[in-house]
Amino acid sequence: MKTTAARTLHLSGMDVFVYADSAAASLAAAEHIARTIEHVRLSRGTCVLGLATGSTPTQVYAHLVERYRGGALSFQGVSTYNLDEYYPIAANDTLSYHAYMYEHLFRHIDLLPARAHVLDGTIPEPFVAEHCAQFERFIEAEGGLDLQLLGIGRNGHIGFNEPIDLPVERARGLRTRMVELHPTTRADAAREFGSVERVIPRALTMGVGTILDARSIVMLATGAAKAEAVARALAGPPTMQTPASLLALAPQKTTWYLDEAAAREVV
Ligand code: PGA
Repeated sequence: MKTTAARTLHLSGMDVFVYADSAAASLAAAEHIARTIEHVRLSRGTCVLGLATGSTPTQVYAHLVERYRGGALSFQGVSTYNLDEYYPIAANDTLSYHAYMYEHLFRHIDLLPARAHVLDGTIPEPFVAEHCAQFERFIEAEGGLDLQLLGIGRNGHIGFNEPIDLPVERARGLRTRMVELHPTTRADAAREFGSVERVIPRALTMGVGTILDARSIVMLATGAAKAEAVARALAGPPTMQTPASLLALAPQKTTWYLDEAAAREVV
């Protein structure tokens, strides 16, 4: 089954599917992921997924869990790598992305725990760079990411690759590393942390380069709060001032799934 988009656009070389609401956009993104798992596993026996957290993908995970429960999808042979994690944070902290992934996906499905990789927010600081390099090596050793799921921040970030003044060629080379969160990201995270002051100000994140090296990229954005960032990212040209605009550097493999609210400023 394939959920049909209300509108299909082609912007900066990328396919953009627009759905009536977030439920339909999330279902379409989940179907894309399920198809990738099935096709890639059929040809290679494994499938390597890059996963995202935040409020946007919760419905995607709910659909994947439903498919698993209905016997239509298995995660046997699948490996996962998450985009990011706060730093420092304990895995059992309810605000951690470890906890998020366990709650929304991992505890419900037949994914081997040893194959679920989330950057470790408890690594002592002197060892963080090595931990990040090892994360990259793990992905490489598995043959690279077959699919990376993304959300977009109100400031246009992907993962925790925040807007900065950096030439596109250098941004393209960014790998997994420690970063400082942008004020907009901290303001948005205040919802979960209780106040801006309580938001953990640093994080570990895959780089723009890690993301762009994935064989396919699924961007899901829903809600009016994302409309401006989505419009800027799709208008181009690619700039690290709007990190999601860099997806246009890999146009053939990138698919955007939007609801009408998130698409309303796209021209
Ligand atoms: P959100 O975050 O899904 O919680 O809006 C998306 C993002 O910042 O990438």
